[in-house]
Amino acid sequence: MRLILLGPPGAGKGTQASSIVSEYGITHISTGDIFRHNIKNETELGKKVKSYLDNGQLVPDELTIDLVWDRLSKDDCKNGFLLDGFPRTINQAEALQKGLEERGLKLDRVVNIEVDKNILVKRLSGRRVCKDCGTPYHVDVNPTKEEGVCDKCSGEVIQRADDNEKTVLDRIEVYENQTFPLIEFYTNLGLILTVDGTLPIEDVFSQIKESLS
Ligand code: AP5
Ligand code: MG
Ligand code: ZN
Repeated sequence: MRLILLGPPGAGKGTQASSIVSEYGITHISTGDIFRHNIKNETELGKKVKSYLDNGQLVPDELTIDLVWDRLSKDDCKNGFLLDGFPRTINQAEALQKGLEERGLKLDRVVNIEVDKNILVKRLSGRRVCKDCGTPYHVDVNPTKEEGVCDKCSGEVIQRADDNEKTVLDRIEVYENQTFPLIEFYTNLGLILTVDGTLPIEDVFSQIKESLS
């Protein structure tokens, strides 16, 4: 299965991604996680992209598209993949369509998680993430079993640098201007599947599973 997860910052893409990939045995690809991993390890790519992430702006398309194709070419994507946070611009979506066509591949579905703006800000201020594997938690609705320690990999759980109120509002604006138009793009391709992201985490997942069956 080849899927895309679409939705504003804080919609629950990363949260649902964990359940989706284990249910369908596909590979999770989060461009945000890849960028943060490179920033943490101070790679050349990390140095190029740091200021964009810190300011809630999009990394330029040419850097992002090449990185995604490198990742999609790996063996673990042969059985399918879930793209989380990519594409985010019409340009990226067109490049993805073209690349898939060239490889004789098709997307199965684009899952669009809908959540109202005022809920997003609240969610992101309470979010914590694992420094090592990127798993998202929330201090109230989805806490770690042991404080500050990732349930999955025992990594340190921290607050993301871009989860302060100003950057969150900037990220939402960037989403509205540059990513929201992708809903129409994928609706026109007959691929969109919208779920209500304001329900509890398990119920959002049930909706996704039902719609994919
Ligand atoms: P990225 O890492 O993708 O961040 P984002 O899109 O802003 O999305 P988030 O990860 O913040 O939210 P999410 O939807 O995953 O929500 P989560 O599941 O964590 O991108 C970061 C940056 O990288 C961008 O700003 C950009 O600079 C760059 N970048 C990345 N991709 C790019 C691209 N393609 N092109 C250019 N630049 C790119 O959930 C949020 C919180 O809510 C958690 O605390 C969670 O526990 C809680 N929660 C989740 N679901 C529920 C629920 N149903 N009810 C209650 N709480 C919930
Ligand atoms: Mg995420
Ligand atoms: Zn972890």
